[in-house]
Amino acid sequence: MSETPVLEPCIPLSIEERTLIDVTEKAKDWAIMHGAAMRSKANFSPDSLNFAPFILMPSSFPRKEFEKAKNLQTIINQLMHNVAHDEEFLTTTLAETVKVDEFTANLFNVYKKVLANGFGQAYSLGLLRSDYLAHMFEDNSVKQVEINTIASSFGGISTQMMPLQSFVMSELGHADKIKNMPENTALSSLCGGMIKAWEVYAEPKAVILFVIEDVSYNICDQRFHEFYIREQRPNIKVLRRTLTEVHKEGKLGPNKELLLCEYEVAVIYFRAGYEPRHYHSQDEWDARYMMECSRAIKCPSIHYHLAGTKKVQQALAQPAMLERFISDPEKIKAVGQIFTGLYSLDDSEAGNASYEMALKEPERFVLKPQREGGGNNVYGVDIPDALRKMSRVERAAWILMDLIQPPISKGYMIRPGGKSPPEVVDLVSELGIFGVILGDVDNVICNYQAGHMLRTKLSTANEGGVAAGLGALDSPYLLD
Ligand SMILES: Nc1ncnc2c1ncn2[C@@H]1O[C@H](COP(=O)(O)OP(=O)(O)O)[C@@H](O)[C@H]1O
Ligand SMILES: [Mg+2]
Repeated sequence: MSETPVLEPCIPLSIEERTLIDVTEKAKDWAIMHGAAMRSKANFSPDSLNFAPFILMPSSFPRKEFEKAKNLQTIINQLMHNVAHDEEFLTTTLAETVKVDEFTANLFNVYKKVLANGFGQAYSLGLLRSDYLAHMFEDNSVKQVEINTIASSFGGISTQMMPLQSFVMSELGHADKIKNMPENTALSSLCGGMIKAWEVYAEPKAVILFVIEDVSYNICDQRFHEFYIREQRPNIKVLRRTLTEVHKEGKLGPNKELLLCEYEVAVIYFRAGYEPRHYHSQDEWDARYMMECSRAIKCPSIHYHLAGTKKVQQALAQPAMLERFISDPEKIKAVGQIFTGLYSLDDSEAGNASYEMALKEPERFVLKPQREGGGNNVYGVDIPDALRKMSRVERAAWILMDLIQPPISKGYMIRPGGKSPPEVVDLVSELGIFGVILGDVDNVICNYQAGHMLRTKLSTANEGGVAAGLGALDSPYLLD
């Protein structure tokens, strides 16, 4: 096996034990006191917080690739906007998938019903996050893992990570290195999108609705947005409601206004609704449909949600497909370079060939269903068994993707209840770049790159979801 390259750390990791214990204790308190925190899953209480798992010092990431990913974001925003508005493309791309994947079929059904009934609102708000791993076999160039169009999380807490790690660097006598840690404007930039959408709706008394899960463990990340909006615009109220509550309390007014108790809703920000378990019954689907029919500006609207499915990502990576959505050849080339191999598993000649390829060399691939939120993929040697259990048609619910192999960095992962002093471990980092786009089919009002997040996991773990308890929040230390 070839050796995985190790990126040079921001500072030598030979930190003396007493110093390491002291700085770790301080960093944990810094995190809690600045809201880099979550509710405990093991000992849940709405009255208390644990610090969110974090990496003590910033993890190294190639500067050139960080800048490249940032600079691509407005093109990716526009691409997703165009995809979301291409009914023919969404319909043909998802045709086989909706036959076998019930959740995607339910989403698609909402879309079809809204299309038939007429959209109550032409504008959509996209708060997107494009995720990348650096691929060590291609000079550490970034490859897209996925694009999120719904509930793109950690903009709030991630904004605290650079200040937290700068504090640690200063404590350790390395303040001179802070210049290699990029500022992060994710919180203000994402909230700026919501505020802009609220202005477009143009009803001074209307509120912003956050659609939430039954229990919000990642509460700080949502409260940061809420509190920031109130601070910037004291007249904007944020309401938080589950899909079930929207079903009970909500109705449409005479002009398709979404009315919740005495409030009219201007903007709906979905932090739930991306997983089957968020829909307990038909009630929650009815609530989703009602919101989609309403005049409120949705983040995301149903077509944006569908544009973010893994199947659509796979279709976009096929040769010449980008030409349908982007006219500038330079931009097509730049976006094409971030795609890694993505293969259909539909019951077609190409799909059956990818099936055979996966059985032959499973360690080269990841198998993904149409799900969000982590923990759903199948990796390497587990792929053949998983595939053999499916019928030919069932495979259409999945896509196959080349495994991206990122370089290793070394550092300390700090978790609630973790060892003291922490040990140096092998890590890999996934970069997320946020983007904001607001517009209707032919008129984009704003389109900008909106900050970043870095999420780091043990190099031995397949996935690094922070909410799932496997990853840790981090920020990049840019290497030239
Ligand atoms: N092609 C890939 N190569 C290596 N790791 C991957 C790849 N695709 C996904 N992963 C890992 O699995 C995680 C979850 O996959 P992702 O596509 O982001 O799905 P989800 O919607 O569940 O977040 C990623 O954060 C990453 O750690
Ligand atoms: Mg992901």
